[in-house]
Amino acid sequence: MKLVAGNWKMNGSLAANRALLGGLAEVSGVEVAVCVPYPYLAQLQERPAGLGLGAQDVSEYSAGAYTGEVSASMLAEFGCRYVIVGHSERRALFADDDATVGRKALSALQAGLVPIVCVGETLAEREAGQVMSVLGRQLGAVLEVLGAAQLGRVVLAYEPVWAIGSGRSASAAQVGEVHAGIRDWLGARGVAANAVRILYGGSVKADNAAEIFAVRHVDGGLIGGASLIAPEFMAICHAAVA
Ligand code: PGA
Repeated sequence: MKLVAGNWKMNGSLAANRALLGGLAEVSGVEVAVCVPYPYLAQLQERPAGLGLGAQDVSEYSAGAYTGEVSASMLAEFGCRYVIVGHSERRALFADDDATVGRKALSALQAGLVPIVCVGETLAEREAGQVMSVLGRQLGAVLEVLGAAQLGRVVLAYEPVWAIGSGRSASAAQVGEVHAGIRDWLGARGVAANAVRILYGGSVKADNAAEIFAVRHVDGGLIGGASLIAPEFMAICHAAVA
């Protein structure tokens, strides 16, 4: 079953969330979750049937004098199943480096959460032919912290930086090539590659979702802007039904 995860980013209000959630209905044949800003985890304790919950970041630390941080066990207490780690916005704007992303993924797993580990290249890196070397560096840092067995328990999201929020999704051919490359990379390092769900993210909309989800090795999507518009998000969820 595919996984469609909405990434609300730093959007929403109590009223706007209520309206958005009111427009979501259970879709069978696909797993659906929304990753919301921390304060709204409380509001999301009541949510449409079948809708899973996640957060957008987590501390690498478990407890203590870390002002402003939120631990994985706190997220678990609020019913989170997923937490995004290493989103390109966190890497670019908040200095999450490759090793930090690995440690955050570990702290999520240790609390029983499933980290959605994001990887992806910039446009300059793609044009320089460095896609797999960049992904290998990002994934390698996570492998170093988790080891092969635990890496087999994460969800990966391939999110080319140039496709995020740009309205310019990667093409089906580009997605297929990279997802196959990631699957091979995992398998070559002793990870149970077929157990790892690999999502695509970056300008997935109602009108391109079916084409992207039909690509081999695409196990779902991480949806930003379109997850804030109920009919768009619902259409994307339906496109992911097997
Ligand atoms: P987008 O964002 O769907 O708005 O491109 C995706 C993401 O950042 O996860």
